[in-house]
Amino acid sequence: MLSQKTIDIVKSTAPILAERGVEITSVFYKRLFEKHPELLNIFNHANQKKGRQQAALANTVYAAAEHIDRLEVILPAVKQIAYKHRSLGVKPEHYPIVGENLLAAIKEVLGHAATDDIIQAWGEAYGVIAQAFIDIEKEMYLEAKEQTGGWAGFKAFKVVKKEIESSVITSFYLKPADGSNVPDYLPGQYISVRLQIEGEAYLFNRQYTLSDSPGKGYFRISVKREADGHFPHGQVSNYLHDHVEIGDEIEVSAPAGEFVLDQGTSPVYLLGGGVGITPLMSMLNDLANKKSARQTVFIQASKNGEMTAFRNEVKEKMDSLPNGESYLFLENPTSIDRQDGGFDHQGFIGLAFLETIIKDPNAKFYICGPVPFMKAMIENLEQLGIKEANIHYEFFGPSLNLKEK
Ligand code: HEM
Repeated sequence: MLSQKTIDIVKSTAPILAERGVEITSVFYKRLFEKHPELLNIFNHANQKKGRQQAALANTVYAAAEHIDRLEVILPAVKQIAYKHRSLGVKPEHYPIVGENLLAAIKEVLGHAATDDIIQAWGEAYGVIAQAFIDIEKEMYLEAKEQTGGWAGFKAFKVVKKEIESSVITSFYLKPADGSNVPDYLPGQYISVRLQIEGEAYLFNRQYTLSDSPGKGYFRISVKREADGHFPHGQVSNYLHDHVEIGDEIEVSAPAGEFVLDQGTSPVYLLGGGVGITPLMSMLNDLANKKSARQTVFIQASKNGEMTAFRNEVKEKMDSLPNGESYLFLENPTSIDRQDGGFDHQGFIGLAFLETIIKDPNAKFYICGPVPFMKAMIENLEQLGIKEANIHYEFFGPSLNLKEK
């Protein structure tokens, strides 16, 4: 239990730390990786370069500190982060290392303003926050072990099929290299993929959503070739596209994540932008497998026809659903797209369109795609009076603060 004095100090200094947050975490990460370069095998180097991870960790610590006397308020956000940690193999013994270096960074950036009382209070508060993560992650490791029959870290998987889905997206079908069964998972969950790239000193980790339904005997991930593949942008996705072939092995961790399809009966709307369609494909395929009678509306937004993945698969699944409808929006249809006519709307998914197709205010909405896409969809749905509890979404990359989740 923290003393009232500690709580008061932490709460009153949290805004100051938040203001200097990026400075503090930049110093923190520099120290952390100098002292513990082995942690570069866990962290995403591209996020580091872009400063996104700095912002994510710092914001979370400060937000947690603001709620230090009622941490239960931030539990949903902690769970989402804890899933990410579990899928990457973050362990209890890593927390004191992070804590020590974070406190040292606070001291370095704040200088004389960081009195002994302040540092002591933050040390205690970090301990409480870290314990909340450690406890939840312990449960998650146990859950993963149960779900997979003993496997909670990384395991070798063989690529058994590679399929081009669009000009930028390729699917990889993966099976355990040791011949064991693929575990069950929930539609919408993701795995971490760990790669040893030739010539690179450290391992690369990335999360990819499973894009097919559970129960198929394989994991399918569908990877977008990002940017130009030069460090730090798109290095892993380009490597997968260009160098990972059928028969190759990659390391994979057990499925994780909370952005999952509910098992209710109310209408369900799946809204995907670009490669954000992947978790929604898993959900759609799951509904189709079960021949669900739920009203299922699948709305896909893409730049043009060439870049649109899973067109045939969506059509096929829609045909098997008694109450399915799908819409494809193309931002910039090409002349070929116009000739083919295989799309429903030009431009973006807008409020007026959503208003015409949403009939039941209690429907469930699942949104995934680039951040501006998701913000626009969430705003539209809120304007249409959809309750927050019925809107589910997942950010790619570190979510930037607790309020966003
Ligand atoms: C991701 C917070 C401790 C390693 C994250 C994210 C947050 C966060 C907010 C982003 C989640 C997302 O992607 O949505 C925290 C907090 C910690 C803590 C508040 C302490 C209380 C640790 C520790 C480690 C660690 C001890 C391991 C040394 C990572 C890694 C990621 C991550 C590898 C994935 C993102 C990337 O690689 O860029 N953490 N974390 N974290 N965390 Fe932590």
